[in-house]
Amino acid sequence: KSTVLSGIQTTGGMTIGNYIGAINQWRIMQENHDCFFMLADLHAITVRQEPETLRSRTLDGVALYTACGIDPDKSALFVQSQVKEHAQLAWVLNCYAQMGELNRMTQFKDKSSKHSNNINVGLFSYPVLQAADILLYQADKVPVGEDQKQHLELTRDIATRFNNIYGDTFTVPEPQIAEFGARVMSLQDPLKKMSKSDENPNGYIMLLDEPKKIEKKLKKAVTDSDEQARIYFDTVEKPGVSNLLTILSVATGKSIEQLVPEYEDKMYGHLKKDTADAVVSMIEPIQARFKEIREDQTELDRIMRVGAEKASAKAEKTLKSVYDALGFVADP
Ligand code: TYM
Repeated sequence: KSTVLSGIQTTGGMTIGNYIGAINQWRIMQENHDCFFMLADLHAITVRQEPETLRSRTLDGVALYTACGIDPDKSALFVQSQVKEHAQLAWVLNCYAQMGELNRMTQFKDKSSKHSNNINVGLFSYPVLQAADILLYQADKVPVGEDQKQHLELTRDIATRFNNIYGDTFTVPEPQIAEFGARVMSLQDPLKKMSKSDENPNGYIMLLDEPKKIEKKLKKAVTDSDEQARIYFDTVEKPGVSNLLTILSVATGKSIEQLVPEYEDKMYGHLKKDTADAVVSMIEPIQARFKEIREDQTELDRIMRVGAEKASAKAEKTLKSVYDALGFVADP
């Protein structure tokens, strides 16, 4: 069985982009892989967080993963800060990552321009912590959206570099990027990816948005202005329409090829309405399960405890082999 790790930052909830690009793949992979799914709260503090909000968002995250179908008895569902080896390995890997390579990371460039009053060292070495997350579990595959490709490349470089110096220590992971939906675009600007940090909330749909709100946002979605207003899949000529088709495809489970003929004589308004209906039907059961689990603190605690135990067992092993390789004196 190959090993899978992935995670989402615990900043401000999850969008349907997170679901379509990541969680939806995880759900399927957990059936035949050894899976580790993490809530990345250590990553979240690279941007200033209100402690009470961070705490409650982390618990929201545990409940949401579960509500989306991540089964805590099949996968290790855990909170990053509860497995201390993440921070420990990140320190080690900081010494095997170059300033120059981190400087090229586009997520750092974006975030440091957005948060220009707090360009902290953690924000800069954020991808090194991500490398630690992945390498600790000797993950073979990392299911992510397209925006994480560059961080995965860096992880591979760091792992290979370490292995070349100290002998085989880490599995060099492969990114696993879905063919469709790896880059869900903003509803307001289909040339930009959908992101919860967008200043215009009409650009994104949150998994916990109310159905009414989802309908409104999709109604307002920017479509493409060409003379014929035809509906077909072409991300260059028709980025807005193609984005809606992608969302509709994931929400209904129908392929794009299946969907396009259904819209031959229809108008943008139909596509928007059907997409809204499909997203709402996809999300409603998730929201109902979320509400149930979120209120059950005993169950949340159980999930986190079981998850942290499974994760720690593997993480401890890897960290020990790294410490040995480096020449740290063994515990007496
Ligand atoms: P984050 O929290 O920004 O996003 C989590 C996951 O959702 C995917 N995603 C999208 N996919 C398609 N369309 C979109 N519009 C969209 N927006 C987000 C992301 O690609 C990602 O897979 N650094 C990571 C979190 C992380 C991590 C890790 C991931 C920490 N450690 C280890 C994998 C392995 C991040 O910021 O993702």
